[in-house]
Amino acid sequence: MPRRRKRDIIIKGFSKLLKEDKLKIVAELMDNQLEAMELLKSFWHNDNSRQKVFDEFSENTISNFYIPYGVAPNVIVNGRNHLVPLVIEESSVVAAASSSARFWSEHGGFHAEVINELKIGQVHFLWKGEKKKLLAVFDELKQYLRGAASDITANMESRGGGVVDMELIDMTAEIKNYYQIRVTFNTVDSMGANFINSCLEEFAGALQQFCKNQDSFTKEEKECQIIMSILSNYTPECLVTAWVECSYDELDKMDKGLTGQQFAEKFALAVKIAEVDVYRATTHNKGIFNGLDAVAIATGNDFRAIEAAGHTYAAKDGRYRSLSHVELKDGKFKYSLTLPLAMGTVGGLTSLHPLAKHSLEMLGKPSAKELMMIAASLGLANNFAAIRSLVTKGIQIGHMKMHLMNILNHFEATKEEKEKAVLYFVEHKVSFANVSKYMQEIRKN
Ligand code: MEV
Repeated sequence: MPRRRKRDIIIKGFSKLLKEDKLKIVAELMDNQLEAMELLKSFWHNDNSRQKVFDEFSENTISNFYIPYGVAPNVIVNGRNHLVPLVIEESSVVAAASSSARFWSEHGGFHAEVINELKIGQVHFLWKGEKKKLLAVFDELKQYLRGAASDITANMESRGGGVVDMELIDMTAEIKNYYQIRVTFNTVDSMGANFINSCLEEFAGALQQFCKNQDSFTKEEKECQIIMSILSNYTPECLVTAWVECSYDELDKMDKGLTGQQFAEKFALAVKIAEVDVYRATTHNKGIFNGLDAVAIATGNDFRAIEAAGHTYAAKDGRYRSLSHVELKDGKFKYSLTLPLAMGTVGGLTSLHPLAKHSLEMLGKPSAKELMMIAASLGLANNFAAIRSLVTKGIQIGHMKMHLMNILNHFEATKEEKEKAVLYFVEHKVSFANVSKYMQEIRKN
């Protein structure tokens, strides 16, 4: 059967097939079936029990996708020196974080503080009644809901967390009859997604029951329609701030052509631009997430949740802005990053993924709060390195140097060719075209 036709066939029950059979189906769609099969299998772990762990993280697993695991040394946060694990494919991120960390290690290190660590979940429901009637029984309702979820919350409470508060939110001005119960949670060292969602689903059922039981409610008010119950990835009350500071003269060596003060002023202007221009703000914040995501992945945290919260927070005052800020005052450069970071150091992948577990051990088994501070410092480190390059030599020199290896690998350069190329491109501009030309030349010779 032609390949195109095969692609059109709807595959039923794929998830129930054995891994080998899934692999065969996938390989059959490729031009070179045997090669495709071999390629995918070559990335399987050769220890079956290890591979099984990865297979079970997700559904329909047919192979593993490798991403480099690197380390940024000399990351001093609140006086403590860390080797920070970073999982990222972008060539210059680890180098950028490391060079920033090295610089700041000699200028007081990173300072960080967790402002709060609360998470939010919502029960969304429709109720045909007046808010004041629900409010009148709301204290009683809260007790009822807490009681209904007590089996789930007991363990979290013994660790110092649990349900912190519940609030009734009237959304009827937006959608007819629409209310929320907004619940605040403390999940201590865990990311807590499963805990929050389990509580919320329990609350939803109990809310319906509670309404049914209310003698003071009309027939209509006894009916409460649950729309959905889910945590919110927007966690503005799970906030961390990281900052660095130094005098202008400590920045004297940042660029040959600029004094420390000139550098600080140009840097501050670049950050200001990201506060007023959404196009620049997006790229600016992307650079922050280069570091944050890399730490999140290395430690088994949900980087999509972290990104989502960060971007929403960046738009909290109605306009998307830079997450980092600079203050120049009394001859001092103070540069900070504040954002929500819902991270965990227990539960989820943090202990299941062998390398996530290793990362946390490497970081000295931090609490969630400590990890938030380390990750925020890394985000700031990457942002600092990016802005520093942008306002001085530009980023392409560094980027392309790091990219040189990728280009050389594209041309399947040998070890000797790589060594020669590295020396040659110290003096020459790295670009795909230049490397291509260079490879042709040396191979001709
Ligand atoms: C590249 O991954 C990140 C940068 O574009 C960030 C920035 O422009 O600030 C260098």
